[in-house]
Amino acid sequence: MSLEIVILAAGKGKRMLSDLPKVLHPIAGRPMLEMVIKTASLLDPAHIHVVVGHHAELIEQSLTALPDTIRSHIDCVMQPEQLGTGHAVSCALPNIKDDSLVLVLYGDTPLTPAQVLGDFIIESQKHDLCVLSAYADNPFGYGRIVRDNLGKLEYIVEERDASEQTKLIHEINTGIICAKASVLKKWLPKIRNNNSQGEYYLTDLAGMLVESGHDVGLSMAPDFSALTGVNTKSQLAFAERTYQHMQAEQLMREYGVTLADPSRIDIRGRLTCGKDCYIDVNCVFEGEVELGDRVRIEAGCVIKDCKIGDDSVISPYTVMESSLMKKRTTIGPFARLRPGNVLEDEVHVGDFVEVKKSVIGKGTKAGHLSYLGDAQLGAGVNVGAGTITCNYDGANKHRTIIGDDVFIGSDTQLVAPVNVPTGVTIAAGTTYTSRIKATENDLVISRINGLCLKGYQRPRKDK
Ligand code: UD1
Ligand code: CA
Repeated sequence: MSLEIVILAAGKGKRMLSDLPKVLHPIAGRPMLEMVIKTASLLDPAHIHVVVGHHAELIEQSLTALPDTIRSHIDCVMQPEQLGTGHAVSCALPNIKDDSLVLVLYGDTPLTPAQVLGDFIIESQKHDLCVLSAYADNPFGYGRIVRDNLGKLEYIVEERDASEQTKLIHEINTGIICAKASVLKKWLPKIRNNNSQGEYYLTDLAGMLVESGHDVGLSMAPDFSALTGVNTKSQLAFAERTYQHMQAEQLMREYGVTLADPSRIDIRGRLTCGKDCYIDVNCVFEGEVELGDRVRIEAGCVIKDCKIGDDSVISPYTVMESSLMKKRTTIGPFARLRPGNVLEDEVHVGDFVEVKKSVIGKGTKAGHLSYLGDAQLGAGVNVGAGTITCNYDGANKHRTIIGDDVFIGSDTQLVAPVNVPTGVTIAAGTTYTSRIKATENDLVISRINGLCLKGYQRPRKDK
């Protein structure tokens, strides 16, 4: 039996109080729908049918970010009017063969683990329709599972249509169902919208099938937190924290990372770590970040698409992007690496130093208050405080090339394009231009002689 997955994503999400369609609100920086689709694709379905409606164009546009291997399985189905979850599923059915198995997922339930869905599919194959439920400490807002006195599913009631007695039930409908396509095709057209919202509820199908003698299964998921639906900003925040907590647990379990506080780390992408890494509080990792062995990331760092070599230390409040740091590098505190840098072993970039598109040689140090852009620095260079590469002439960017063992005194401006030969010493306060024809080991100095006025009186304020 081929597996067809239908993902409901046509609703507006009124309770989000936002112009953005609900399923495009992000979890870990990516639209929650993307997460649902990625999980769905792990189940190896024949097709993924995404039911779209409200702002369909924005939803379809968001799918272009997915890899081709996933996109090629997706087909978007239009639900012109949002008449309810049952109606939404029926919109996808014409594209599905009768002898397939249909798994229905909601675009607003982003954290469901593929493993839970895989087990659910296996269980579902024994039934005409199977419902995935969960136990919720606070079931408010969810459809409730009503069981008969033998403990079998009898029907599902929405919160709004439930009696006070039924609202006391803690077993909720996760919204995830799996059914034979032939059963859906025959029975979905029979559901009615005589409920408080005037919608065609998918959930009504369960009671209807039970009543007509079908075999309806009920499977309870192990952990409700991974199955929470997102209807409000508060639930979005809960889902985000739940997801981050899952990732923190994974870092500790898989790599043995020491986290100062597992509830104060955010990973918006993928973080891989070597042995004995330490991550202090409030760090954010984006895109693909790779840490070597014994790397220390101190408090408040924001790191995107970087690779950091063994024994490196990133001190507090460092922001870096698309850079490669080799072994034993020390960066920050308060440093900024913009994209395109390669820092060789033992490089030190200190506080208030900005580096962009630069290659920095082994053991070179830029300790304080510098800008190094479009530069290539050799090994063992000392960059004095306040050194600036003047890389931009107002129209074009130019390169600065600095040889090994150059000593750059404080407050030097390197006016690019410029090339400083090996071993040159640049005195503090120098403006170094290409007109300076230094050769190896020269001293370069550009400074007016100081002046001293004896007996000088400071101006005084008039009364
Ligand atoms: C739904 C379930 C409820 C369950 C809860 C789990 C129904 C009637 N209720 O309630 O039992 O406990 O999910 O989170 O199914 N959608 C469409 N087209 C529509 C209506 C909705 O595509 O016409 C989509 C929405 O975009 C959303 C999903 O279906 O992604 C669920 O709709 P929503 O309105 O959030 O249902 P809930 O009230 O949360
Ligand atoms: Ca919902």
